[in-house]
Amino acid sequence: MPGFFFFLFCFLALHITISFSSDTLTPTQTLLTNQTLVSPTQVFALGFFSRTNSSWYLGIWYHNISNGPVVWVANRDNPLHNSTGFLTIGENKNMILTTPSGEPVWSSNVTKANNPILQLLDTGNLVLREANVTDPANYLWQSFDYPTDTLLPGMKMGWNLDTGVEKHLTSWKVEGKDPSSGDYSFKIDPRGIPEIFLMNENDRIYRSGPWNGERFSGVPEMQPDTDSIMFDFSYDNHGVHYSFSIGNRSILSRLIVTSGGVLKRRTWVPSSNTWTTFWYAPKDQCDNFKACGSNGLCDSNASPVCTCMRGFSPKNQQAWSLRDGSEGCVRNTNLDCGTDKFLHLEDVKLPETSSVFANRSMNLEECKDLCRRNCSCTAYANIEVTNGGTGCVTWSAELIDMRKYPSGGQDLFVRLAASDADDTGSAGGSHKTNHIGEIAGITASAAVVIVGLVMIFWKKRKVLSISNLKTTPRGSFQRSRELLTSDGVFSTNRENSGERNMDDIELPMFDFNTLTMATNNFSEENKLGQGGFGIVYRGRLMEGRDIAVKRLSKNSVQGVEEFKNEVKLIVRLQHRNLVRLFGCCVEMDEKLLVYEHMENRSLYSILFDKAKKHMLDWNRRFSIICGIARGILYLHHDSRLRIIHRDLKASNILLDSEMNPKISDFGMARLFGANQTEGNTLRVVGTYGYMSPEYAMDGTFSVKSDVFSFGVLALEIITGKKNRGFYYSNDDMNLLGNAWRQWRDGSALELVDSSLGNSYSPAEVLRCIHVGLLCVQERAEDRPTMSSVMLMLSSESALMPQPRNPGFSVGKNPAETDSCSSKQDESWSVNQVTVTLLDAR
Ligand SMILES: *[C@@H]1O[C@H](CO)[C@@H](O)[C@H](O)[C@H]1NC(C)=O
Ligand SMILES: *[C@@H]1O[C@H](CO)[C@@H](O)[C@H](O)[C@H]1NC(C)=O
Ligand SMILES: *[C@@H]1O[C@H](CO)[C@@H](O)[C@H](O)[C@H]1NC(C)=O
Ligand SMILES: *[C@@H]1O[C@H](CO)[C@@H](O)[C@H](O)[C@H]1NC(C)=O
Ligand SMILES: *[C@@H]1O[C@H](CO)[C@@H](O)[C@H](O)[C@H]1NC(C)=O
Ligand SMILES: *[C@@H]1O[C@H](CO)[C@@H](O)[C@H](O)[C@H]1NC(C)=O
Ligand SMILES: *[C@@H]1O[C@H](CO)[C@@H](O)[C@H](O)[C@H]1NC(C)=O
Ligand SMILES: *[C@@H]1O[C@H](CO)[C@@H](O)[C@H](O)[C@H]1NC(C)=O
Ligand SMILES: *[C@@H]1O[C@H](CO)[C@@H](O)[C@H](O)[C@H]1NC(C)=O
Ligand SMILES: *[C@@H]1O[C@H](CO)[C@@H](O)[C@H](O)[C@H]1NC(C)=O
Ligand SMILES: *[C@@H]1O[C@H](CO)[C@@H](O)[C@H](O)[C@H]1NC(C)=O
Ligand SMILES: *[C@@H]1O[C@H](CO)[C@@H](O)[C@H](O)[C@H]1NC(C)=O
Repeated sequence: MPGFFFFLFCFLALHITISFSSDTLTPTQTLLTNQTLVSPTQVFALGFFSRTNSSWYLGIWYHNISNGPVVWVANRDNPLHNSTGFLTIGENKNMILTTPSGEPVWSSNVTKANNPILQLLDTGNLVLREANVTDPANYLWQSFDYPTDTLLPGMKMGWNLDTGVEKHLTSWKVEGKDPSSGDYSFKIDPRGIPEIFLMNENDRIYRSGPWNGERFSGVPEMQPDTDSIMFDFSYDNHGVHYSFSIGNRSILSRLIVTSGGVLKRRTWVPSSNTWTTFWYAPKDQCDNFKACGSNGLCDSNASPVCTCMRGFSPKNQQAWSLRDGSEGCVRNTNLDCGTDKFLHLEDVKLPETSSVFANRSMNLEECKDLCRRNCSCTAYANIEVTNGGTGCVTWSAELIDMRKYPSGGQDLFVRLAASDADDTGSAGGSHKTNHIGEIAGITASAAVVIVGLVMIFWKKRKVLSISNLKTTPRGSFQRSRELLTSDGVFSTNRENSGERNMDDIELPMFDFNTLTMATNNFSEENKLGQGGFGIVYRGRLMEGRDIAVKRLSKNSVQGVEEFKNEVKLIVRLQHRNLVRLFGCCVEMDEKLLVYEHMENRSLYSILFDKAKKHMLDWNRRFSIICGIARGILYLHHDSRLRIIHRDLKASNILLDSEMNPKISDFGMARLFGANQTEGNTLRVVGTYGYMSPEYAMDGTFSVKSDVFSFGVLALEIITGKKNRGFYYSNDDMNLLGNAWRQWRDGSALELVDSSLGNSYSPAEVLRCIHVGLLCVQERAEDRPTMSSVMLMLSSESALMPQPRNPGFSVGKNPAETDSCSSKQDESWSVNQVTVTLLDAR
């Protein structure tokens, strides 16, 4: 130890240490573990960080954002083990990181330098340069040449083909915790027409598709003008590079590879103080590399997703029928070089291009000619879509990893034996007419059934469930009937739902003093909880009535009159599964809402509490699920306002003295000034774990976003486990991924909360899991409406479609295997009809 201090003394004596607020480090200075370099306008900082107290790293992070993510790490695979480290420009004029004992841990390896300085730029680039040289081309060393898991604007990844130097992104081992090199990387393959691959070690798991002049062939949603992002993919004989830039410097955006193997573009949204994911991949099953094998075409809008192109058939019919398309398709008829024709496919992601022939100056006609003349050519296409299509690419091997998009893909021409091509026009066309035929058929038969059902329905409300019954245990039947007849489900007139006409009734206003007294001066002891919109206090009015008072945070954007008008509307919403709003208080700059008080607090406080969860037996849980569904249905369909809740979660489900669920916090979006039923919002108000993919990613919300949250809630209630949200690679952490896997494995009952023991009805549990999974499907269109949900929950025999993969567990799904029996398949259309009937109301 004395030796250590002596050394430290010498070290400090040799180097003048200063308190850095500066962006540069000169050869006479040392950066200590507790110091940082900050870029000129304070966007980025360079310094030491640790996530474990035992491993220390030198890194760069966003300076102005608290806990700003680390975007670069110097010594990611060789951490310092002491909290003491020194960064200097060493005697050999090199940037060097040493331990207290002077051992080098990391170095920039520059050899020739005269008077170098180290500087952190506002781009996040750490550069070592001669003090009198500022031209980026002459930097001695720069961190942008050694990416970790993050691509920043202006940073290039790719190949210098002259020197063979390659730059790619590699994930952290554990996101946010362990920066050492993880399993996933994002790398350009420079062969053929260059493409970028997401790799799990050496396995390709996702492919961008070749650059088509505007975007990647496999990323049709990539739009150059959003958020003034410009994408640049450049290639010539000397190199292949990918980078992006942002026109507006105050927008912070980065592309990362997460340790769970997901590629994300995240942008800082200052108004909500969060990083929002604006784009991610892989997104769906069809993004999985070779999801449908060779010559297979993946279409995530189709079911099953894999199809063979015209003229091809599944290689392994049995696996194919089980929805495993990975073995791909084979030709029906062998090619005959002379008479072959070409099949025109529209809006596809071009097949993998590592071994193609490419000529950028040929046009499509020349390309067709070239392909026709060479018998080993299997397909051709334009390389770029700009200027009406330019360049020529031809494939001579199997076509792999193709997918079809609704729009935005490219044209591909596939060689077919004349006899296979001659059936009818193009594959796309016949595909469409087939679908139209099917739809017409279904609609016609549906109409007949609907008319029939409506007649029955008129005569006797309960008949719908009775007519569907086959074998039903007595008890559950009783319950189903209650569910069906309870308010909100089949009520077509509003009187049944308890909504009163109070146009002429004054809005109940409370005065601030009353509420102050009731809540004991808004004391800590009276605090019930804190939500996104303010703190909630329990209170008791003079006459003895218990209330809950929500004191809204002061950044509410609405004016007093609008606020009162909205409260007036919301006060009128009354349903036994909604927490009642009694009135409000607006005084000075205070806005408060007064609600009925709930004895048993929230579902969250009981369901996730080991000591209390046993109070919720299966019958209670089932009735809570159904109650929540009824409440949402009322908000979506039956109330006058058509409210989308946007923040459904266990802590917003309150329980009364009999454990009846009541939804709280509805109408908040209206109170805060956004009253559309479907739309786009900058401020994402929801809670991670409950947010639907489309809402979290793009801020678009609709009733289907609430359906997603309901699905998460239902699964939480069944399993007693919290859904922790995004992309946990560990399945046990990801409730949706886990539920989906067990469901497919046929072991869904293992999901049931162990505190329930065996006292539950397996059929009911399975039905609830099934409904839950339907609600959390990735694509909003696939999710049922709340009226269908009610029907499925209440009828033992409601036939339900098979769920597809859930949102936020994508990327790790093996091909969708489907255990549904043929019996269910046949009844699919019948189910569609009942669903249609309810939706049409
Ligand atoms: C940083 O560490 C050095 C030595 O380890 C110490 O002398 C100095 O006071 C520290 N500075 C701050 C701001 O903590
Ligand atoms: C960072 O914060 C500092 C001080 O709070 C401020 O002066 C500066 O403008 C901020 N920079 C950016 C890029 O937001
Ligand atoms: C690191 O040390 C601090 C202070 O001793 C402690 O509060 C913190 O929990 C530790 N962090 C980890 C990850 O061990
Ligand atoms: C510092 O690191 C050295 C090895 O680099 C080790 O021997 C020593 O025990 C460490 N000291 C502390 C206080 O952790
Ligand atoms: C410096 O050279 C060493 C030994 O060749 C190597 O292990 C290390 O990765 C290099 N550092 C950088 C930053 O390139
Ligand atoms: C920088 O300074 C060195 C001497 O220290 C000199 O040889 C060199 O020409 C200068 N370069 C420029 C661009 O001024
Ligand atoms: C840049 O972005 C900021 C924040 O989003 C915005 O306030 C500003 O108007 C933008 N500037 C330009 C020139 O678009
Ligand atoms: C590409 O095509 C053009 C026009 O047909 C031709 O002149 C040129 O030689 C071709 N280049 C290569 C490398 O094949
Ligand atoms: C036909 O295409 C294959 C593969 O692209 C190529 O190797 C071969 O040279 C071509 N043959 C002719 C005659 O161009
Ligand atoms: C409430 O606050 C007021 C003024 O801040 C104070 O006079 C009064 O004693 C407080 N009452 C209680 C019950 O704490
Ligand atoms: C629920 O409320 C009732 C009535 O107030 C009470 O008896 C019961 O203990 C409460 N249960 C819990 C878990 O708080
Ligand atoms: C809500 O919508 C109505 C019309 O649909 C409009 O008049 C009103 O201004 C909107 N309120 C807010 C706060 O956006």
